[in-house]
Amino acid sequence: MNKGLFITFEGADGCGKTTQIELLDKHLKSIGKQTLLTREPGAKGLGIKLREILLNYDGEVSPNCESFLFLADRAQHVDCIIKPAIEEGKIILCDRHTDSTVAYQGYGRGLDIERINYLNNIATSGLKPDLTIVFDIDIETSMKRVGKEKDRMESAGTEFFNRVREGYLEISKKEPERVKVINSADSIENIHKQVLELIDKLWQA
Ligand code: TYD
Repeated sequence: MNKGLFITFEGADGCGKTTQIELLDKHLKSIGKQTLLTREPGAKGLGIKLREILLNYDGEVSPNCESFLFLADRAQHVDCIIKPAIEEGKIILCDRHTDSTVAYQGYGRGLDIERINYLNNIATSGLKPDLTIVFDIDIETSMKRVGKEKDRMESAGTEFFNRVREGYLEISKKEPERVKVINSADSIENIHKQVLELIDKLWQA
């Protein structure tokens, strides 16, 4: 059996990635592919408990502790869900992964990027996505889409989200082969087309 593909989707809150992942999932299933739609933090089981803390805990959370909770969720996710699905030959569509920790806890919270890369590598046992799509969006639009009901992360403020956005753009410059940026200001249909083009290229590679 062929080994599966591991594709991750990234971007600031409200960038529209969930809509795009669902469209892609539908398309892949319609052409007979086996997919696994999953997310971080909190795909299932223990991860859901960690997600509750990460998004809703209302006391003090140090940036270091926050990172380790996201990393703990990732280790569980990779070991128990992602790796088995890759072995089964599935196409994994993962809503957020390692680059979220680099962008949010590194660029956003100001933790050392090299250290986060090192810890990410431990959490994933060295697994790397075959392709990462970053949906780039200006912060005003992203905050409008998020609306008034904000979770703990979404409440971090405009400057934080500007740093997160810059972080993603920096990551794409450092790893242009793996990380592709799509402008989220375009229509849902046009963005979907661009996503399909990237997936086609991946198959041709
Ligand atoms: P979620 O509701 O899944 O947001 P979205 O729909 O935008 O993906 O919440 C996940 C939040 O956690 C989001 O604000 C990004 C943040 N996050 C980090 O800060 N670091 C991480 O490593 C991950 C995976 C997510």
